[in-house]
Amino acid sequence: MQKPYPPVYYGDYLQLERLLTSQLPKSEEYGKPAHDEMLFIIVHQAYELWFKQIIHELGSVLEIFSKEKIDEKNLGTCVARLRRITTIQKVLIDQLNILETMTPLDFLDFRDYLIPASGFQSFQFRIVENMLGLSIENRVKFDDKNYYSLVSDEHQKLLIESHNKTSLLRAVDNWLSRIPFMDGNGYHFLNEYMSAVTRMLSNEMEIILNNPSLTDDKRNRQLSEFENTKKKFDALLDKDLHDELVSKGIRKFSYKSSLAALFINLYRDEPILHLPFRFLTYLIDVDENFTSWRYKHALMVQRMIGSKVGTGGSSGHHYLMQTAEKHKVFPDLLEIPTFLIPRSELPELPSEVRSRLAFSYELT
Ligand code: HEM
Repeated sequence: MQKPYPPVYYGDYLQLERLLTSQLPKSEEYGKPAHDEMLFIIVHQAYELWFKQIIHELGSVLEIFSKEKIDEKNLGTCVARLRRITTIQKVLIDQLNILETMTPLDFLDFRDYLIPASGFQSFQFRIVENMLGLSIENRVKFDDKNYYSLVSDEHQKLLIESHNKTSLLRAVDNWLSRIPFMDGNGYHFLNEYMSAVTRMLSNEMEIILNNPSLTDDKRNRQLSEFENTKKKFDALLDKDLHDELVSKGIRKFSYKSSLAALFINLYRDEPILHLPFRFLTYLIDVDENFTSWRYKHALMVQRMIGSKVGTGGSSGHHYLMQTAEKHKVFPDLLEIPTFLIPRSELPELPSEVRSRLAFSYELT
């Protein structure tokens, strides 16, 4: 039988001719070959290929999330794609070790040829940040410049385009705000949760007040810590306080979405909440892996150039450490553990709500 498609040659399929002739060390061009520049180029190129794959995965997740209704099967696909992104990220973090086999002196052999190019101009890295939902206001500036002011006009256009599209942060916020089950038929999650929290906090207060082994000093310290915890709960339970945190950029989800994320975390043992819970957990993993990469890159930069300014003109290590701290996209999800209460204190869901959350075969 004849094959319906013409034969494919490995090297043509992978465009190896173009790929393997795309390493052009500047040191060779200037007649002073520096051995390690090849490694420097290949590591960066490998990063850019992986960024391309991450953009591909994020794009498909965003396409699913931009729909009004996301069915279970599609949510499963999104979980699988986020998992793939987290696996790629681990490779990205590890890959910095390969570059660290280059010593600072070896780097100096070609570093000056690269000015003012810098990873700061990686438009794909910025597109990933934009797709996730890192906003302009939340970015650390250097030299009072916008993050896209140092890239070519063509790349600027792509960045502004990606910035103007719905990010994963906004799409997840919209999805969470639509989640059913939290209210109806006389059941109000917030009321039930508030009663449980009030019971738990007054128990904790009792324990501090009546613990005979505490000195006055220790008791006062514990009471002031207790007040801080209480204030955090107040901010979650009070919409105005929550909205104030949103206006300061400290929280990013709407009030309703924050409660939905909490509901999913508290009742994640209910079958229908398994996937949403795994999805939210992968979002934390993606955010955390990028933060780990930022820290590791900042540490590598310090050992490579000390406190010199970067080739792109930033304060180098100092600037990068700031981004590691401030460029988190899902701080609301990281705050959820503060509001978790022990399973023993968790209000029982009414049977009507439980049956809606169960797999149908469990009902028969
Ligand atoms: C010898 C190795 C490296 C050094 C010394 C270095 C240095 C720096 C410095 C100093 C910056 C701050 C901007 C500037 O002033 O230039 C920066 C930013 C950046 N670098 Fe590197 N880098 C190295 C390797 C890499 C690699 C392998 C990647 C992978 C793509 C990378 C990606 C980035 C990105 C994405 C930024 C922007 C970070 C942000 O603004 O949040 N760098 N790098």
